Amino acid sequence: MLKKLDESKYSIPTRLIYGKSVTEEWDYSHHVTPPISASSTFRLDSAGRGATGFEAIGNRELVERLGGPTYVYARMAEPNNDMLSHALAVAERAEVAVTFASGMAAVHAAVCVRLQAGDEIISHKTIYGCTYSMFTTRLPRFGVKTHFVDLKDPLAWVPLVTDRTRILYLEAPANPSLALIEVDTVCKKLKEINKTRPADRQILTVMDNTFATPWCQRPIEHGVDIVVHSLTKGISGFGTDIGGAVVTRQEFHDELILFRKDYGGILSPQTAWHILVYGISTLSLRLPRQIENALAIARFLETHPKVAKVAYPGLESFPQYDVAKRLMRDYEGNFAPGIIVFFSLKGKDPADALRSGQKMMDFIAQSSYTITLAVSLGQLRTLIEHPGSMTHRAYKPEEQLAFGFDPGGIRLAVGIEPVGDIIADLGRALDAI
Ligand SMILES: Cc1ncc(COP(=O)(O)O)c(C=O)c1O
Repeated sequence: MLKKLDESKYSIPTRLIYGKSVTEEWDYSHHVTPPISASSTFRLDSAGRGATGFEAIGNRELVERLGGPTYVYARMAEPNNDMLSHALAVAERAEVAVTFASGMAAVHAAVCVRLQAGDEIISHKTIYGCTYSMFTTRLPRFGVKTHFVDLKDPLAWVPLVTDRTRILYLEAPANPSLALIEVDTVCKKLKEINKTRPADRQILTVMDNTFATPWCQRPIEHGVDIVVHSLTKGISGFGTDIGGAVVTRQEFHDELILFRKDYGGILSPQTAWHILVYGISTLSLRLPRQIENALAIARFLETHPKVAKVAYPGLESFPQYDVAKRLMRDYEGNFAPGIIVFFSLKGKDPADALRSGQKMMDFIAQSSYTITLAVSLGQLRTLIEHPGSMTHRAYKPEEQLAFGFDPGGIRLAVGIEPVGDIIADLGRALDAI
């Protein structure tokens, strides 16, 4: 058996390949790649072990005292999810992570783990469409109200705080506008406000970091309490899996495990294995290439005569370029402005611009080899979609501008193809309209 080494001395990309030198989550010692766990239940050596296993669910202190997990049933805990959780915590420079069946299951858990009827959320107004739908259609049924505000002003939320406020919900770069949030300023102000509030009325920050991935931005380093990810995107990276994660401090771990046990939104062990072995371990290869491609594409679009506007945090023309330079950094401090470009075409009026955008996407759907008309993002292939009628349909068309994104805007999620091929396909599609 390998000696237990101090892996914290190694760089994060290396640790995302190797994981723990010795793991309590799995008692193999000769596999180079962790085995896929394919067991819904676990053999118990004694009735006592069964009882201990149940007692240990959501009781990390006991797990540590026992020297590792006692697996009983895969909805409660199992090795592949535990190994992936460890890697996710390393990637976000956080204490713990808990995996979920999808990004939305993770958002649900992060937001609801401490909410009660009567509580209120203050949310950035530009967020992923299904999160907006959760806040406006599902949570109100349980007596939870959400106020939306433009957090490009990092103190705009302060006047909305009441005794009932429990969650400040952030998403940046926002889907689809790519607006950024100065999380450091937000968290500093919130700390002051929380000092004046009782322990059971503390306001928690929850931030969706899916668009950035921990490669480009690590909100916990700036004071955010809870980060959520759709693992489906840049972290799994190949477009083969759906998953989610909540990454946070030790103090929320047990409640999150119990929440997952009772609501049942567990990630399958096979999917966790995939994301662990192929996805997160290759973040350091995929992301720099995708960022380089995204910048070249953003620059191409910016100078194209048929393009009205391009938003990409790496462009000098991006309104929050200074914020991007401060917050979007890889593990070595290099500028890492992400892999998504949001742009709009010129037109007589917004409806005309949208018609041109639709023609362009139809042309791409039929005639492009390196760009695929499909939702999702963060995979090897470049994908294009129209948020206004697809991913962000939960926002009424007439409200989209007020909620911070151009209804005619087109979202490009950049892949790893040689960038000249993507630009040539984009150029042909623009010529065709
Ligand atoms: C920013 C963001 N958050 C959350 C989600 C939800 O993730 P999932 O589809 O894995 O449930 C998505 C999906 O597109 C997303 O873009």
